[in-house]
Amino acid sequence: MKIIIEKNYSDLSKKAADIIEKEIRNKSDLILGLATGSTPVGTYKELIRRHKEEGLDFAKVTTFNLDEYLGIPHDHINSYHYFMYDNLFKHINIDEDNINIPNGNPENVEEYCKSYDEDIEKQGGIDLQILGIGENGHIAFNEPDDKLYLGTHITDLTESTIRANARFFDSIEEVPKKAITMGLGSIMKAKKILLLANGKSKANIIGKLLKDEVVSTYNPASLLLLHPDVTIILDEESASEY
Ligand code: GLP
Repeated sequence: MKIIIEKNYSDLSKKAADIIEKEIRNKSDLILGLATGSTPVGTYKELIRRHKEEGLDFAKVTTFNLDEYLGIPHDHINSYHYFMYDNLFKHINIDEDNINIPNGNPENVEEYCKSYDEDIEKQGGIDLQILGIGENGHIAFNEPDDKLYLGTHITDLTESTIRANARFFDSIEEVPKKAITMGLGSIMKAKKILLLANGKSKANIIGKLLKDEVVSTYNPASLLLLHPDVTIILDEESASEY
């Protein structure tokens, strides 16, 4: 596991963009796993700048997003679908057909979840997976529990995640209580993983993850300790308890 500590969020975002850019320049048809949340927004901004000013080419890149709220229309301002278009896709030259975001309103849940994982497999698996981390250690929407699912599945959100994500909604009551999420199996199969964390609110979980050296389903991010190619980029605040 490689740990990089940058001074601030802006430097963290540039460093993450450097790593993503390098992968795309090495393999133009990269399979890129993407995350939502506020953490990667700066990285996406930096990728957009490099696309516009330096010709970073997304034409052959395929993306798979980690998760989506359940039961929210895809054009809802708080859907992860809307978020991804707003913060990245509509600003770069990605081919619409190469964008994959879990459908928050699948007709047949079981079949849909299976097909999402199969689509990843058909593409040869994810080359580089970008991840954020929840304050409780959740990865995508894999919440702390006594068991973790391998494949894409529907999950209940914990109170702490609902509270943390309420900042994006008008009121906490509006935050969906369920989500569709890739499982830890698909995430752990990614060839490379890049985890980003910034700010004081992540210091505790990052400290726990890096100092405890234990794997527990009650800290889903700790499974990453078993992956052979993980880079974690932190800012000084999120690294303050490490
Ligand atoms: C959200 C997302 C995760 C994200 C995490 C942290 O609930 N499902 O994919 O990594 O929580 O979000 P943020 O980056 O806003 O702190």
